[in-house]
Amino acid sequence: MVKPSVLVTRRWPAAVEQRLAAEYEVELNRSDRPLTPSELREAFLKYDAVLPTVTDRIGPDALDVPKAQTRILANYGVGYSHIDLENAKRHGMAITNTPDVLSDCTADLAMTLMLMVARRAGEGERQLRAGDWDGWCPTHLVGTKVSGKTLGIIGFGRIGQEVARRAHFGFGMKIVVFNRSPVDQQVLEQFSAVQENSVDDLLPLCDFVSLHCPGGPETRKLINSRRLDLMKPDAFLINTSRGEVVDEFALAQSLMFETIGGAALDVFEREPAIHPMLQQCTRNLVMLPHLGSATREARQAMGFRVLDNLHDFFDGKPPRDRVA
Ligand code: DGY
Repeated sequence: MVKPSVLVTRRWPAAVEQRLAAEYEVELNRSDRPLTPSELREAFLKYDAVLPTVTDRIGPDALDVPKAQTRILANYGVGYSHIDLENAKRHGMAITNTPDVLSDCTADLAMTLMLMVARRAGEGERQLRAGDWDGWCPTHLVGTKVSGKTLGIIGFGRIGQEVARRAHFGFGMKIVVFNRSPVDQQVLEQFSAVQENSVDDLLPLCDFVSLHCPGGPETRKLINSRRLDLMKPDAFLINTSRGEVVDEFALAQSLMFETIGGAALDVFEREPAIHPMLQQCTRNLVMLPHLGSATREARQAMGFRVLDNLHDFFDGKPPRDRVA
């Protein structure tokens, strides 16, 4: 039997690449260079499956092909706002993602960011490595207590709930949530969480706000200057979801004028480019290079979850993580 042809757009963990190569007619991207729109167009004419990830902008230009050979876009990652779903569906492509397997690690990173920005860990490390630390004193790098504070979670899906678990049971935090569809009372009760009717209602209540909603047109610039003004003047914003959810110019202004306490970002609107005004916010902004799922365990599990989706699809079954 002829094996389906599969293109992997970036390097993946070795164990997953080996399994893919054993089971499919695979083209690996050994250079690990992101594909251009024209290379993506060529791929859609040639391969039965394309396995993209967040660095592949699969917009109308990349999908502008007369008749695609590709029948499935099996995305490596839970977020898929980089894929133009309508155009992909027009070509008859199925689209899958990799939920669950990265929820723990992404939630761990959201907690890392929360602690880093509140306790000024980035500043402290930079100072020490620069040889500028003069020694302990009562007024040195005094930050903000995290334990017992109120955490607002916007987007209460799998990752949001894992953040709530860590924050509530680990740090005794009070949890307030907003989700676009109402959250089941039983789920809220697990974390003694209170549900708010809108983002605007939630923001003024929180000492920390953590974003866990999907990206895409519906949440684009959800956190804008009006909403930043609704936050307490000493509250912190954490983003491990998608860069486009935050208006970066508005956030930089809030940080520069200190209308909020600080922010910690793992994702950016034009990755890997960083807004020049954010680069200037050294005192109250922590930034990491999109590390949410970056553990050996999660990255390998994401790859095997893509394989599960491919197996289902090519066996003629509905893929377990079909999103469109
Ligand atoms: C995800 O899974 O969406 C991560 O952000 C990596 O793309």
